[in-house]
Order: sequence, then structure tokens, then C-alpha cells
Amino acid sequence: MQPTVIAPSILSANFAKLGEEVDNVLKAGADWVHFDVMDNHYVPNLTIGPMVCEALRKHGVTAPIDVHLMVEPVDTLVPEFAKAGATMITFHPEASRHAHRTIQLIKSHGCQAGLVLNPATPLEVLDWALGELDMVLLMSVNPGFGGQAFIPSTLDKLRRVREMIDRVGRPIRLEIDGGVKADNIAEIAEAGADTFVAGSAIFNAPDYADVIGRMKAAVAG
Ligand code: DX5
Ligand code: ZN
Repeated sequence: MQPTVIAPSILSANFAKLGEEVDNVLKAGADWVHFDVMDNHYVPNLTIGPMVCEALRKHGVTAPIDVHLMVEPVDTLVPEFAKAGATMITFHPEASRHAHRTIQLIKSHGCQAGLVLNPATPLEVLDWALGELDMVLLMSVNPGFGGQAFIPSTLDKLRRVREMIDRVGRPIRLEIDGGVKADNIAEIAEAGADTFVAGSAIFNAPDYADVIGRMKAAVAG
């Protein structure tokens, strides 16, 4: 198991003052910035691209930026995001014609690479990729929007991926994204996640430090 990471999804931040919002969650104890990229093609929503990532770096953000690509095709955006300051880049394998090549591409640009599995994506896609990956991201909602409810069957899926990762014996992070709250994070951690994305639960809270603190305490159990 890797040390716990809380990664607020800026999808639920106030975009009119994004730099300030990111500074505030990091000051409040967040470890990473989760950066949701949606293209109105792979998912039915449209968000932000490499220019915004670069702007956050220029603003002075030094924390890891965890770029979650919900786009199709994937490969053209990889060099752009690496240049813009992404630390890790995750993508949905069905959105890339050659997922293994995309993993290699991400790593060749000096970023950590992860595969994202939708709620209905079978785990077999990991069989021949796990050896190359730095992270597996399990979606616990269908991608496209913040504020959806956690899909309970993801807990069982997490347990299975945790076993697969432990069998490989490499330091691969297991990240969960969608519907994570202070009151369900303990059972999610128990099922094997070590990296927790939370959008609405953090940015809709009146006190970021309070909610992040409660999340960390619940994981530490
Ligand atoms: C959904 C995004 C998530 C989303 C999570 O497609 O990948 O990162 O912002 O939001 P919450 O935590 O509100 O479910
Ligand atoms: Zn995400």
C-alpha cells in the first residue's frame, strides 16, 4: 500500500478563481490536484486543457498534478500535458487504439502513467498492462460529471485490483474517483484504495481543511 493521497478534483472548484481555489485546498492538506479533462466526445461534458494546467504551474502550484484524460483520441494530448506540467497522466484504454503504446508515450515524456477503468470495464484490460503502470484509477461513477453517487459494486472491484497489484509487487497506486465523501472513505480505503479523488465533497464544503482532515482521519482509522 502506498501512503494515502487526497486529490481534490478541480471540476467542482470555482473556475473564476481557480488559482486561489487550488492554493486553498493545498493549504488545507490536499496532496495532489486532480485535473479532469473532458472533450464532449468521449464524455458528454467539456472542461479544461493543457493551457489551464500550464497556468496553474505558472501561478506557482508545485504539488503533483494528476491529469485524468476523458478524451478520444488520447495520444495527441500527451505531449501537450507533459509540457504543461502534468505529473501523472491517466486515460481510458477504450479511448486509445493502442493502449500499451499510449502508456509508453506517457512515460517517454517523463510522466507517470495510469489506466482508468469505468464501472463496466472488466479487469482483464490490466492483465498485460499492470507491469508498465504507475497507477490504476477505478471510476466509481460513470465519467463526465461531478456530484454523482458512489456505485457500491466498485468496492468489490477495488478488492480484486488490490490483489492484482499486490501480486505484481510493484509500487502501483490504486486511485478511486467518484462519489468519495468523508463518510464512505473508510470502507473505500479498507477495500484497497490508497489515492482518493474527491470533488464536490471538498469544494462544496464550507471548510476545506475540516473535510480533508476528516477524510485523512477516516482512512488512518
Ligand atoms: C468524473 C470525474 C471526477 C469527478 C469527481 O468524471 O472524473 O473526478 O469530478 O467528482 P465527485 O467527487 O463530486 O464525484
Ligand atoms: Zn477524475
